[in-house]
Amino acid sequence: MPESPIRKLVPYAEKARKANKHIYHLNIGQPDIKSPKTAMDAVANHNIDVLAYSRSEGSEEYREKIAAYYHRNDIPVNADEIIVTTGGSEALLFAMGTICDAGDEVIIPEPFYANYNGFATASGVSIIPVISKIEDNFALPPISEFEKLITPKTKAILICNPGNPTGYLYSKDEIKTLAEIVKKHDLFLVADEVYREFAYDGLEHYSILQEADMAQNGIIIDSVSKRYSMCGARIGCLVSKNKEVIATALKFAQARLSPPTFAQIASEAALATPQSYFDAVIEEYKERRDTLIAHLQKIEGVKVGVPKGAFYCIVELPITNSDAFAQWLLEDFDLNGETIMVAPAAGFYSTPGVGQNQVRIAYVLEKESLIKAVEILKAALQQYAN
Ligand SMILES: Cc1ncc(COP(=O)(O)O)c(C=O)c1O
Repeated sequence: MPESPIRKLVPYAEKARKANKHIYHLNIGQPDIKSPKTAMDAVANHNIDVLAYSRSEGSEEYREKIAAYYHRNDIPVNADEIIVTTGGSEALLFAMGTICDAGDEVIIPEPFYANYNGFATASGVSIIPVISKIEDNFALPPISEFEKLITPKTKAILICNPGNPTGYLYSKDEIKTLAEIVKKHDLFLVADEVYREFAYDGLEHYSILQEADMAQNGIIIDSVSKRYSMCGARIGCLVSKNKEVIATALKFAQARLSPPTFAQIASEAALATPQSYFDAVIEEYKERRDTLIAHLQKIEGVKVGVPKGAFYCIVELPITNSDAFAQWLLEDFDLNGETIMVAPAAGFYSTPGVGQNQVRIAYVLEKESLIKAVEILKAALQQYAN
């Protein structure tokens, strides 16, 4: 199993913290936004005597409400086309187990969410990467690049939209192009849409299941973690209109018995969160993005794409080994007792050697902290070069 590039430096961070260094955590997508009060109240005011299992596919009431949420987002999905999972993480694992045998291949534009490497390894699946480039802001690579890689073992194309770690938001045209290719080659299109709400600059997210004839080929991965800043709830779902996919994924769900009961209650209540919550959160993230990018662009030798969604960016630095640099930041560097923690980007690629001069930054801190963090990065780069 590969280590998670997001978490593998935690022991160094712990050591730095014990030495009283203040660390700005840019490494992990843990939002500092409050979880909706309705969700917390639903758990606090429960009248449960026995904390029982729920149904393997998730409680009926919750799935009905998720289906209503999708309908509000023009995604025509019914309750029986949803399997509630223990986070989007488990939905990804179920998806791979459902559509692949050991030795099968899934094509993924890279850089991609690092844990896809772990889920693929655990499922015996090979990731076949298509490189997207920082110069193109990580747009969808030409479709010919995908077609070149399709073999009899290829089962799916997996995308993350909006992207972690790139922040790229696929356009409607790009989704249509992907839909065409999967239908042409009888593959699945698995879309990790856990950041669906986080789209900036007036752009709108376009889901693969908004495409009318993707019923047989489309699988959505979803989660409450980022949408409602409820990462610790551990609730997500797998969605497909393909009955065989749902029937097979349900067997995986039955093997692990049920998703967590209290967290489903919280997640169900969270669905009543008003649009005004999202408007405020999205405005906040947009301002953070603008602040972060503007300050990063002022550092000589630093290259950064402009994220259109989610809350991450890949930053190219004038260094050759971001693993060593990220560790050095924690172990050997501080600016007035403060340092930063970043995620080295090589773990977001599966092509060996790529991404070693890049890090991923999550803009999940307040603007003042982001400005401070970039100041620290600038000073660190100067010292590291000498
Ligand atoms: C793109 C993406 N997919 C899936 C997940 C898994 O999230 P969770 O298991 O918390 O729902 C994450 C978490 O950061 C993510 O960034």
